[in-house]
Amino acid sequence: TRVLVLNGPNLARLGTREPEVYGSATLADLTDAVKVWAAELGLDADVRQTDDESELIGWLHEAVDARLDVVLNPAAFTHYSYALRDAAAQVTGAHLRLVEVHLTNPYARESFRHLSVIGPVATGTVAGFGVDSYRLALSALV
Ligand code: DQA
Repeated sequence: TRVLVLNGPNLARLGTREPEVYGSATLADLTDAVKVWAAELGLDADVRQTDDESELIGWLHEAVDARLDVVLNPAAFTHYSYALRDAAAQVTGAHLRLVEVHLTNPYARESFRHLSVIGPVATGTVAGFGVDSYRLALSALV
């Protein structure tokens, strides 16, 4: 079963970006780990990253049209993108699963991170376990 694992802005900078916050794993490390974990669960993970809101929204439309479940790290879009929220709502509205993931625990950070506009239209959320958040999200899908 194919699943889309989508990463939003600045996540291509993992490894060098605030490593004390986000850890030392790079996006390539994350991608490799996600593909292995997915395969162990019988899933085929299509892992992507973009800094572009429009592209990310297009991938959610693709998930609806191809009937794919989604693991989504919306990154900073989490906190303010109603356009991404409306796209995410189409995924769950089509009775597909969308798991919101975060490497960090946004509730333990700055107050602007305490609100997720994606959370209310997600199937569920996994946050705060580093790269393992993705493993937990994939296992939730199976
Ligand atoms: C993040 C948390 C967001 O607040 C932040 O903007 C990110 C990464 C996380 O995975 O912890 O870019 O989504």
